[in-house]
Amino acid sequence: MRVCVQSPANALEAPGLKELTDPRRMYATALQNSETVFAIAPMMDWTDRHCRFLHRQLSRSALLYTEMVVADAVLHGPRERLLDFDETEHPVALQIGGSEPAKLAEAARIGADFGYDEINLNVGCPSDRVQSGTFGACLMRTPALVGECVEAMKSAVDVPVTVKCRIGVDDQDPEIALDELADTVFEAGADALWVHARKAWLQGLSPAQNRTVPPLDYARVYRLKQRLPDRFIGINGGIGSAEEVVAHLKDTDGAMMGRTAYQNPAFIADVEAALTGNEVQVDWDAVVNAMANYAARHVEKGGRLSHVTRHMVGLFHGLPGARRYRQILSTEATKPDAGPEVLFAAYGTVDIESARRAA
Ligand SMILES: Cc1cc2nc3c(=O)[nH]c(=O)nc-3n(C[C@H](O)[C@H](O)[C@H](O)COP(=O)(O)O)c2cc1C
Repeated sequence: MRVCVQSPANALEAPGLKELTDPRRMYATALQNSETVFAIAPMMDWTDRHCRFLHRQLSRSALLYTEMVVADAVLHGPRERLLDFDETEHPVALQIGGSEPAKLAEAARIGADFGYDEINLNVGCPSDRVQSGTFGACLMRTPALVGECVEAMKSAVDVPVTVKCRIGVDDQDPEIALDELADTVFEAGADALWVHARKAWLQGLSPAQNRTVPPLDYARVYRLKQRLPDRFIGINGGIGSAEEVVAHLKDTDGAMMGRTAYQNPAFIADVEAALTGNEVQVDWDAVVNAMANYAARHVEKGGRLSHVTRHMVGLFHGLPGARRYRQILSTEATKPDAGPEVLFAAYGTVDIESARRAA
């Protein structure tokens, strides 16, 4: 994927930058030009709009995913609150959960009208709540239904429709299950398939265990890409560094990072640097200023500072002062009247210079 060659925080504001690939043509362009896509995974309760705004300060080009929003909630819930996002978040994809084609089509249309650059269908989430609604990972067992869902969504929107899945569930043979799902969704018009490279075990494991216990099988995803060279296949699961992202992109079209990016967002800037081939030195003052301004606007509208700062706790991992920084965020920033000055106070305890010297 084409990216800018500037410090990400400044890049958001800087005029005259080389245009990014049109997000709505991102997958087609990537396939055409042998470009790749780096994405931050959808994570419930984590990748809300405040989190995505932070991540955008660290990468101009990463594709950002929302948390999963259930189709019924899109149709009948508090739409503005669920779907509204900041313009700077582009490229941003809405992930929807559901299994009823008509509802998914309508939810996709609403998402596209809100301005999302992509609509993604969740075929990977294993939680009980999701299974009782017969969607998420259990849809791996019914590829034909997933195909119907994708077809309905495609016919409702102009933006790319994609699927995020597992390599299989329970006793399924991943060689068969993943091929069947992939063939069906691409036949139905899907623009990309993101594969979390492990099974989901639907009985007896919690969602968190389902992200660590079933073994990762990257080779299975690489084989899918070899079999479908003209389709966009992205890989996800256990990617822990920029080097690993680069390595996966030799065998797939996209790499998606979840927990590593959330828990230590500096990795996002590392990936940006690795993919542009430029030494991107993050301007932390600019990042914190941007977040403080953003938080001030949120507080002015009646929100809490901690809604924003809770996503910033992992920012200065390993630097002198990071512990005090975290303490201030978890005690002071949670107070009802806390404002952006708390963020500045916390940041003031971090020895950023030592990181600059070490770089
Ligand atoms: C807190 C949390 C919430 C998640 N919520 C979702 C979700 O809403 N939709 C989804 O497709 N995957 C969800 N996932 C799974 C991630 O998207 C990703 O597939 C998984 O964490 C593996 O990637 P990683 O090893 O890079 O974290 C969630 C993961 C975490 C840690």
